[in-house]
Amino acid sequence: MRVDRAEEVAEGIHLYELRHPDGAELPEFTSGAHLSVRVPNGMIRKYSLCNDPAERDRYVIAVRRELVSRGGSVSLTGNVKAGDRLPVSAPRNDFVLVKSPAGYLFIAGGIGITPILSMVRHLKSTGGKFRLYYCTRTPQATAFRDELSAPEFRGQVKIHHDNGDPAQMLDLWPVLERPAGMHLYCCGPRPLMQAVRDMSGHWSPSAVHFEAFTEPEKTKAEDQPFKVRLVKSGAVVDVPVGTTILEAMRAQGHDAPSSCESGTCGTCRTRLLKGEADHRDLVLAEDEHADNIMLCVSRARSPEIVIDR
Ligand code: FES
Repeated sequence: MRVDRAEEVAEGIHLYELRHPDGAELPEFTSGAHLSVRVPNGMIRKYSLCNDPAERDRYVIAVRRELVSRGGSVSLTGNVKAGDRLPVSAPRNDFVLVKSPAGYLFIAGGIGITPILSMVRHLKSTGGKFRLYYCTRTPQATAFRDELSAPEFRGQVKIHHDNGDPAQMLDLWPVLERPAGMHLYCCGPRPLMQAVRDMSGHWSPSAVHFEAFTEPEKTKAEDQPFKVRLVKSGAVVDVPVGTTILEAMRAQGHDAPSSCESGTCGTCRTRLLKGEADHRDLVLAEDEHADNIMLCVSRARSPEIVIDR
């Protein structure tokens, strides 16, 4: 695609407007969709679309320059300017906005605003009911601040700054206390999503949706290798430290459905028949932990687990 606009719109946050090089209409997308972009250093990174899906002439993404990461955002924000070409996949959606007559509750943290902004723009133009809580560090680090502070969003959008101090974090309990039949969508840093997950146990699991914009931590100090027994084939797969169950299964020719591969979409949910899991996803509720596991992020605490694959 052709980069039509490349601009820093808030501290460390760069906006890119992408169009077809011939000006042709683009494949449709729905709110919550992302593009996979090949950045100049060759990495493939996923970025959520933040424009209204009714627009067919452009895709808009916003990217936060992450200095402590694997380098995809630094490569993009440091090297791509208006007029350049970028190899981009068709849009794909793992964070679908389902119908919700009672309305939507959105909680966004930092650059996690991007998929939610597309949802808010869509609902604004179609008359849907929603409330958005948008948490950022400071006003300067708040992308789309002018648009979301405009009078047309009064009463629907609250922007909260915590100045990087956990003690100033937005108190989420009053926001989450009464589900009132709404659907909850949350995208932001993992500690924010974990806090929302912990306080939304009384919501219907099918009404709570998360999307991660950072890769989950692959390795923790306490990680140990373990074995996974696949009950249907009888195969035993070794899972070393630094490799996910899904990766280890694939390396031995056993596939399983997956999509986000970050523990948020629910596609790789599998019945856990034996052993103890170390759950690292944002999908399973507490009472589902004993007999389910998400293969893309979770590990085992016992030396062997048996799964229904
Ligand atoms: Fe999305 Fe595992 S693939 S939760």
